[in-house]
Amino acid sequence: MKYKRMPIEIESPEQLGYDTIECNLAESSIHDALFKDLQLNLNELILCYGHHLGKPELREFIASEYTDISAEDILITAGAAAALFIAATSLLSSKDHLIVVRPNYATNIETPRAIGCEIDFIDLNFETDFQLNVPLIQSLIKPNTKCISITTPHNPTGTVISEQTLLELIEAAELNNCFLLVDETYRDLTAGIKLPLAASLSPNVISVSSVSKAFGLPGIRIGWLITQNKKLQELFLAAKEQIFLCNSIVDEEIAYQFLQKKKSFLPAVHQKVKTNFELVKIWMDQNPNLEWVEPQGGVICFPRIKKEIIVNTELFYSTLYNNYKTLVGPGHWFEMDKRFMRIGYGWPDKESLNKGLFNISAALNETIR
Ligand SMILES: Cc1ncc(COP(=O)(O)O)c(C=O)c1O
Repeated sequence: MKYKRMPIEIESPEQLGYDTIECNLAESSIHDALFKDLQLNLNELILCYGHHLGKPELREFIASEYTDISAEDILITAGAAAALFIAATSLLSSKDHLIVVRPNYATNIETPRAIGCEIDFIDLNFETDFQLNVPLIQSLIKPNTKCISITTPHNPTGTVISEQTLLELIEAAELNNCFLLVDETYRDLTAGIKLPLAASLSPNVISVSSVSKAFGLPGIRIGWLITQNKKLQELFLAAKEQIFLCNSIVDEEIAYQFLQKKKSFLPAVHQKVKTNFELVKIWMDQNPNLEWVEPQGGVICFPRIKKEIIVNTELFYSTLYNNYKTLVGPGHWFEMDKRFMRIGYGWPDKESLNKGLFNISAALNETIR
C-alpha cells in the first residue's frame, strides 16, 4: 500500500495553527469541548490494556441506543477515521471493486486508492441537488464488487439520504453479495427524526460513527464500526489488533462517562446548530455571488461561486486566510472545483460565524474581476 497525505489534512486548522485563524469556518463539528466542562471523574481508572473489542460498558451503551444491535456487534476504534481504514483494508484488495460516493470525507476515497482496488465514483452534482443516483449505483455493480460506500449526513454537502434510498442500497448489496458501508459520523447532529441505524437493518451493512462531530470530542479519538456479520466483525477485530490492539483506556472512559450524560448536552448543541444555520441561510439568501443546495443535516454546507462570476479562486482563498484570518474548506479538499467551499457553521460562536461570513463576502468582492 502507498500512502499519500490528503490536502484536507495538510491544510487543516490544526496543521496551520489555530492561532493563525480568527474565524474558523473550516471545521465539520461543533466546538471542541473543554475537559472540565464535562465533569468526569477518571481517578479510579486503572491504566491497563483495554478489552480488544472496546470497553464492554461503552459498547453496551452504544448498542442500547438502537434496536437489533448488541454489544458484540460493535468494535470501538480510534475515531471514525480508523474505523474506515479498518473496513477498507479488511474488505478490499487490488482485485476487488468499490463503488464510492464523491465528494466525500477524504479517507473514504484515499484508503481504497492506497489499496489499489478498482474504483467507480458516484459523483454528486450540484445540478441534481447532490442526490444519490441509485439506479446508477445498481448498474455499476460487478461480480467483484465488494463494497458500496456512502456517507449520510453527507460531508461536505450536508445532504441526507431517504429511508427508501437506504433500503434500495441495502437490497442491492444483499442481492449482489457485497457490503454497504454507511459512514454515519454526523448522525447525532440531526435534531429531527433519524434514519434507522443502517447496520441494524442487514448483516450486509457496516455503520461507522464517532463522538467527534456532535459532541466536540475529536481529541479523544473514539469511534466505532457496527456490523451484525460475525465473520466480518472477527476480521475487523484482527485488523484492529494488528494496528493498535486496543483503544486508549482513558479515551474510552471519557467517551463512556460522557455518552451517559449526552442527553443533557444535546439540546444546547442542536439549538446552536439551528441558530447558526439560520445565520448562514440569511447570508446565503442575500449573497449575489454564491448559490447552494441547502443542507439537511450535519453542520456543514457546500456553496458554489456562481458560474458567471469571474474570480481568481487561488487569490480568493489566500486573501480570505491571510488578510481576513478566515478559513473555509476549499473545493479541492474534496476533489471538487475550487468554486465550491465547505463552510462549517457549528464550530464558531454566533459573532465569529457572522464575522467569518462577512469576511467571505469581502474577500470575494475583492477578488472578483
Ligand atoms: C464523514 C466523516 N467520516 C469520518 C471522519 C473522521 O472522524 P473522526 O475520526 O474524528 O471520528 C470525518 C471527519 O471529518 C468525516 O467527516
